[in-house]
Amino acid sequence: MRKEVNIQAGGYPMPVLMIAAYDENKKVEMMNAAWGMACGGDQIALFISSGHKTTQTLKKAGVFSVSIADEANIVPADFVGIASGNTMPDKFEKTGLHAVPGEAGGAPVIEEFPVCYECELLEEVNTGNVHCIVGKVKKVTADEKVLGADGQVDPEKVHPLIFDQFGRGYYKLGEKAGQAWDAGNVLMK
Ligand SMILES: Cc1cc2nc3c(=O)[nH]c(=O)nc-3n(C[C@H](O)[C@H](O)[C@H](O)COP(=O)(O)O)c2cc1C
Repeated sequence: MRKEVNIQAGGYPMPVLMIAAYDENKKVEMMNAAWGMACGGDQIALFISSGHKTTQTLKKAGVFSVSIADEANIVPADFVGIASGNTMPDKFEKTGLHAVPGEAGGAPVIEEFPVCYECELLEEVNTGNVHCIVGKVKKVTADEKVLGADGQVDPEKVHPLIFDQFGRGYYKLGEKAGQAWDAGNVLMK
């Protein structure tokens, strides 16, 4: 039997993305965003409020970074989703994280997060109820400790945080369940 639960638009998994940009004084503004996803092979769409300090900062900068938050950094990752640079000028300093300018346009690469997508602001889409920022991914870097033998990112080494919109929990990534574009092949007869 099926039962009705609270209306939520998010399914599983929802990411925990760290959006960061430098302001004109090279100060980092950073926020947490679960409403973000790939919208092309080299494009990321973020659904972020126009009032956030980070949103305003990345629009001025024209470049920003998207990092994958991992279990080891759950405290600063959540903190940047609670505090706002609009009211807390030293928000980034309080995280204890470190940023260096990325090589593909100078967006801040947060050293503690395992995977970082350096993006150029490509498009801004406003509808009646949503503010969408589309970034073109110019460079992706990963800490070498999260790479597999093939030199690519190994999700089991990243330990990304997964967001649950129903109960607002952070979860760990589970085990690999199968291979995409392959598991369904048994029915291709
Ligand atoms: C788990 C989590 C996910 C969030 N996802 C989003 C999101 O997708 N879009 C958004 O606009 N705000 C999101 N927020 C809220 C912002 O991160 C939050 O309002 C933050 O304080 C904005 O900071 P800023 O004003 O310094 O940029 C999220 C917060 C948390 C804790």
